[in-house]
Order: sequence, then C-alpha cells, then structure tokens
Amino acid sequence: METVIITGGTGLIGTALSKFLLSRGFQVIILTRDPKAHRSSVPGISYAAWNIEEQSANEEAFQKAKYVIHLAGAGVVDKPWTNKRKKEIVESRTRSSELLIKAMTSIPNKIVSVVSASAIGWYREILSQPAVETDPPDPGFLGETCRAWENAIQPVRDLGKRLVILRTGIVLSNEGGAFPEFVKPVKYGIAGILGSGKQIISWIHIEDICRIYLEAILNPAWSGVYNAVAPNPVNNRTFTVELAKRIKGNFFIQVPVPNFILRTLLGGRSEEVLKSSHISANKLKQQGFQFIYPTIDAAFRDLIPR
Ligand SMILES: NC(=O)c1ccc[n+]([C@@H]2O[C@H](COP(=O)([O-])OP(=O)(O)OC[C@H]3O[C@@H](n4cnc5c(N)ncnc54)[C@H](OP(=O)(O)O)[C@@H]3O)[C@@H](O)[C@H]2O)c1
Repeated sequence: METVIITGGTGLIGTALSKFLLSRGFQVIILTRDPKAHRSSVPGISYAAWNIEEQSANEEAFQKAKYVIHLAGAGVVDKPWTNKRKKEIVESRTRSSELLIKAMTSIPNKIVSVVSASAIGWYREILSQPAVETDPPDPGFLGETCRAWENAIQPVRDLGKRLVILRTGIVLSNEGGAFPEFVKPVKYGIAGILGSGKQIISWIHIEDICRIYLEAILNPAWSGVYNAVAPNPVNNRTFTVELAKRIKGNFFIQVPVPNFILRTLLGGRSEEVLKSSHISANKLKQQGFQFIYPTIDAAFRDLIPR
C-alpha cells in the first residue's frame, strides 16, 4: 500500500481527504503538532509529530511515504488580524514548508510528488475577466501570504520531486469552514446579503477538492500552479438566495449587511468577504479534471439533502 503524508491533516480538508484516500487504498500519516490529541481508531490513518519551531519531524513517516500533501497553516479568518496573528498565519505556512524541505533533504525517502495548498487570496480583484494562474499576486496581506507560502515550497523541485500548488477557493462542507456560517442565519429565515452582493464567490465542493488532491499526487502530467475552484462561480447574492431557497423554500427575507458593518465586525478580514474573486477553472479542466459538482445547484443539492 502507498503512503501519503498529510501535514495539518487534522483540519477541514485533511479530515475528509484522509478518509477519501483511505477509501482509495492509501495509508495516511497525518503530521500534526499534537499527535496525542488525535489517537486514530481507523486502521490506515495514523498520526505523527512535527515541531515547526524546532524544525523537527517524525523520520519514519518520511521513510514510508510516496506522496506529501501540505495543508498546515493557522486559520486565516478564525481570529482578528493583529500583527501577531498575521505573523502566525504567514510563518505557520513558510516555516512548515521549510521543515518539509529540510526533512526531505536529510531523511532518505522515496517521495515522488508534493502537493501544497495555496489560496485564491493570491489574486487581486479583477472585474473584467476571471483570474488565471499566471496573474501576479495581490499586494495586500492575503496575496503576500500566498506568495510567501508558494515561494517557500518551491525548493521541493530542486529535490527532484514533482510539485503541484492548488490555489483553493472557498471549500463547501457541512463539517466546518465558511459554509456552516452561511447556513446558520438562513435557518432562521435570514438571507444576509454581504456588501453589494455582487462580489463573486469562487467555491469548490469538499469532495471535488479531495479528488483534485488525489489526481495531483498521482498524475505525472500535473505540475505547477492550478486554481482549485469549480467552473461556475456565483455572486454573493445568488449564493445566499439559492441557499435560502434550498433550505427554506420561499420562507426567508433578504437582509443587506452593509460594508461598514462588516468592516466594524471583521476588521481587515472583511476583505475576504467583500472582495470579488472570479477565478478561472480552465487550467484544471484542460488537464482533464471532471467536476462532480460543477454548479452551485449541484453542490447545494448534495450538501442540503431534502
Ligand atoms: N477550507 C478552505 O475553504 C480553504 C480555502 C483556501 C485555502 N485553504 C487552505 O488549505 C489548507 C487546509 O485548509 P483547512 O480548511 O483544512 O484548514 P484547517 O481546518 O484550519 O486546518 C489546518 C491545519 O493546520 C494546522 N495548523 C493550525 N495552526 C497551525 C500553526 N500555527 N502552525 C502549524 N500548523 C497549524 C492544524 O493541524 P494540527 O493542529 O494538527 O497541527 C490544522 O488542523 C490551509 O492551509 C488553508 O489555508 C483552505
């Protein structure tokens, strides 16, 4: 059986991805800062330690693995963006990438490919056309974070390993992340339209992002940066209203949430919900990837069964 290391595999994507890879016959080793907190009862999924400050990692994991998936990083929207938190957001990604490279350099291993998360926060707001992988980074905090993160993982190539970077859109899952936050007010009949409601949301269903990671570790034709987003993004109003219709039928009201309220509540993080992110999925499609959930309707039908 082939083994996949998943850094930060205890989080939203990693938990789903571990189960998905297991179902496809892989062994999974999750690199976590706290292995004692996560004893696995599932044969095939185990936990191993790494310490980013000390730049040390479990050697056996690297000796066993054929693939590495790098998801670790402090949550971007969980806490206010103080200077301390911003440093943690960036360094949890750059220092962990450095540790991966150090481990793959010093520990004898047979790793063939490394797939790293990045985010569509890379892109500046472009209103005229969907953003493509060759576009330059946004000079703001999120763009800078993604740039530093992607740069930090690049030396993987010098080790002779194939590198794929997935600039991921908003992952839709009932288990956590942004989606349950959208659902909460709708359950009370309130469809909160954020800002103008015209800003585009580039999203991806959790099952499709797991399938993209699998394809990326296995397929030697995949290399470099890909936008991991569904091919049919929608604006905030459509997203919210369609969600409300799915959950409440016609029994909901649209409530505008003005920009200044979002800025007061979220500070710098309001950038995340107010920025329009129209991101192209063309490169992924050209690579032959077929989405199970290409439209928001298909995603909502799966996530909110009747
Ligand atoms: N979910 C999305 O919508 C989305 C969209 C775009 C990009 N991404 C990116 O994809 C990756 C995975 O996303 P996710 O939603 O699964 O994230 P998540 O649920 O927040 O999990 C990330 C994992 O990273 C580890 N971590 C947290 N803080 C850390 C720190 N300070 N230093 C080192 N490791 C730390 C944690 O694992 P341990 O506590 O076990 O060490 C955590 O379980 C993230 O890097 C995220 O930025 C996610």
